[in-house]
Amino acid sequence: MPTLQDAPIGVFDSGVGGLSVLAALRRRLPGHPLHYVADLDHAPYGERGDAYVMDRTARISEHLLASGAGLIVVACNTATAQAIALVRERHPGLPVVGVEPGVKPAVAASLVRRVGVLATPGTLASARFAALVERHAQGCDVLPMPCPGLAAAIEQGEAGAAEVERLLDGFCAPLRAAGVDVVALGCTHYVFVAERIAARLPGVRLIDTADAVARQAQTLIGQATAAPAPAPLRLQSTGATDTLARMAARALDETPTVEQVVI
Ligand code: DGL
Repeated sequence: MPTLQDAPIGVFDSGVGGLSVLAALRRRLPGHPLHYVADLDHAPYGERGDAYVMDRTARISEHLLASGAGLIVVACNTATAQAIALVRERHPGLPVVGVEPGVKPAVAASLVRRVGVLATPGTLASARFAALVERHAQGCDVLPMPCPGLAAAIEQGEAGAAEVERLLDGFCAPLRAAGVDVVALGCTHYVFVAERIAARLPGVRLIDTADAVARQAQTLIGQATAAPAPAPLRLQSTGATDTLARMAARALDETPTVEQVVI
């Protein structure tokens, strides 16, 4: 029976976004096996609604557990906001780590007491996000900026590049006009266009929580095991495999193969 120390960490997102979290896990736990699922046949999650995201999250978590995962990382802000409570309820005792917009570090870093949050409509409309702001805003203005269409455009890689530029113009302009000095990247996909966002928000600090998530997983597991060779990395997609393979090579600096899977 594999233990938490040697069972794979199961990680998932609607698509390529969670690769930013996977890369952080790889850096912190190089000797630990990882199993990543990109739910590309059902992406994007951010504009689907609670019931849909809960159903997909439940199915993928079951799949990861049946494949031997000892810990689940929900590498998606939207699925965390809408469905992590369900995973915890269905699997009491299972360690589950989610990812949330970095409202707390953004507020801590803001000198002007005004921060922006770029995220999906689903994340920003959730009760969990409202509670996060309530808990951490501490009198600071928190400006949510829903970004419909952005994750889907990022998924398209080069083919979506012009659309990404157009959308970012619209999403970043109000934050610039409002004078925020910190912006939380509240969707794991947006890390892949962080430079494009930074170009539109000069002088603004961008906050990404991928490493904080990996650190939390590391704490739950214990220290990284020193492996003689890189530990196995399994990548699966419920849809297309080409963009995932390309983005994985870019994010991880290794070239794993991608299997297609029906979940
Ligand atoms: N990467 C996801 C997130 O962090 C979801 C993007 C989407 O599927 O809409 O919210």
